[in-house]
Amino acid sequence: MCGIVGYIGKRDAIPILMDGLKTLEYRGYDSAGLVGFKGEEVVFEKAVGRVANLDEKIDKHGGFSGNIGIAHTRWATHGGVTELNAHPHTGCNQNIFLVHNGIIENYQKIKDKLIETGHRFYSETDTEVLAHLIEELRDKDNILLEDAVRLALQKIKGTYGLVVVDKRNPYKMVIARNFSPLILGVGKDEFIVASDATAILRSTSSVIYLNDGEIAVLEPDKYRIFNIDNEQVDRTPEELDWDIETAKKGDFPHYMLKEIYEEPEAIKNSIRGRLDLENGKAVLGGLSSIKEDLSKIDRLHISACGTAYIAGLVGEYMIEEYAGVPVEVDYASEVRYRKPIFGKRDAMLTISQSGETADTLAALYEAKEKGILTLGIVNAVGSTISRETGAGVYQHIGPEIGVASTKSFVSQLSILALLTVYIGRKKGMSLVMGKRILDELSRIPEKMERLLKLNDGIKELANRYAGYNNFLYMGRKYNFPMALEGALKIKEIAYVHAEGYASGEMKHGPIALIDKNFPSLIICPQDSVYEKNISNIEEIKARGGIVIAIGTEGDDRIRNLVDDVIYIPKTLEMLTPILVSLPLHLFAYHVGVKKGYDVDKPRNLAKSVTVE
Ligand code: M6R
Repeated sequence: MCGIVGYIGKRDAIPILMDGLKTLEYRGYDSAGLVGFKGEEVVFEKAVGRVANLDEKIDKHGGFSGNIGIAHTRWATHGGVTELNAHPHTGCNQNIFLVHNGIIENYQKIKDKLIETGHRFYSETDTEVLAHLIEELRDKDNILLEDAVRLALQKIKGTYGLVVVDKRNPYKMVIARNFSPLILGVGKDEFIVASDATAILRSTSSVIYLNDGEIAVLEPDKYRIFNIDNEQVDRTPEELDWDIETAKKGDFPHYMLKEIYEEPEAIKNSIRGRLDLENGKAVLGGLSSIKEDLSKIDRLHISACGTAYIAGLVGEYMIEEYAGVPVEVDYASEVRYRKPIFGKRDAMLTISQSGETADTLAALYEAKEKGILTLGIVNAVGSTISRETGAGVYQHIGPEIGVASTKSFVSQLSILALLTVYIGRKKGMSLVMGKRILDELSRIPEKMERLLKLNDGIKELANRYAGYNNFLYMGRKYNFPMALEGALKIKEIAYVHAEGYASGEMKHGPIALIDKNFPSLIICPQDSVYEKNISNIEEIKARGGIVIAIGTEGDDRIRNLVDDVIYIPKTLEMLTPILVSLPLHLFAYHVGVKKGYDVDKPRNLAKSVTVE
């Protein structure tokens, strides 16, 4: 969603800001803008559409080289996609400029009051109110910018990641955060502020994660952090362990393909140092503070969104079958409305690649408010969810840029397998079973490498099927969630209508859809429900339907039944979803590419969904 970049220091701000905006493009946006100062001179431009459109406008300013500026990519919430609504926003006198992520809930009330005092508004956004409010407070009593920002924030209700500058003092920048990510990169005599670590990495790996309600005032060689009550806050920078190379596309045509190719490595990184094969135990240091409580839980609630939710469903099957703990999985967006019943000894696991998904965060807060144990599986180090959960497991897979969750999904599945063993071994899982699962998990990356060799074949298959407008994805038990994952991916990447179903449900409705124009993709490895899935295939074929199957290597029977088959290597039943992911991701990717879509930035979608 919206992205923020700010720079203050000794270097030329504009190239750093533009570079930052380009890095943030993957998050999804519809317009962009920038303001930079050099003394009294100002560059202030906005453009609808791609950052490249803004770049063209900025280019016209030729040699401008100020040392301070702020920039933004907007994903419309309040008001349409127009230049006027794009950020930065400014007040009546065009001195204060700011960029904002989040929502000002009481903006209308404040706006009405400001209009009464003579302020004139040009946009439909909630954000513009902040610019006028800060202007009003600063100019009326001639107070410092940081004081005006603090006083303004005391008056608003809502969420914000905020960066404010004042043309009259081009050596100062004020930033603030409340439930919307904002990271402060600390360089030598310079600061880079961004809503996403990837936009900072090129300049520095030394970062400070602002907490909710904190404000920082930055001057090129110093910074000060305080809270909304003006109390000083001490914070030292931490090292960000993400590698800048991981955030580049390299020779791949798309991030999505690169990230699918990184799936084996992602699993290696997520399980590295976490397998105690000799004792059949999972070593999850991030859970050590809650290990006693976790071993006593009565029930685990898993909350997440999109693909992370689907990972949670697979986790439900794993944990219930092997750890014997009841699991309930919810769309995080439903938790606060559903009024779930939390027992005293229940725990909530939130799963999120970005660690910033607003709905997942809200579910987490709900659980915290009810006083139950919380834990997380998160990729983005220092993200809000990672800091708000009591304990957790980091994915360690580096940035994922493509909007589709690919390497992050398989990483989450592998961590859920580890968690199954972690909890299971405390709940009576045998040493032999613990060893078996971990041993097989350690072999998964090599099996995924083998699967990558199928890329050309899957591309050819995708090209043949790219003309169909509908798909039915089906699977049973562990691979029912994978039917949902396959359908979700082809929907978001290739804009193909697809239904994901548990195979057993076929006869209760979806079978009516089957004809020669509605292909089915059936996930049918040789597992405990193999024969049942075979029956489903026969039923579809009897009705003239087309079937693509994902089967187990060496299964010749299935080849004779279906139209096309993709083979995966044999593994433990509970780990088949990890292997199944890769062909499902490749298939969706190639259909999307064949149809000519921008698979890294599908329409209307954002990588990190930071609003409800
Ligand atoms: O960052 P998160 O894991 O919390 O994101 C959750 C979903 O928004 C995400 O998985 C989304 O469904 C992906 N685009 C799916 O590929």
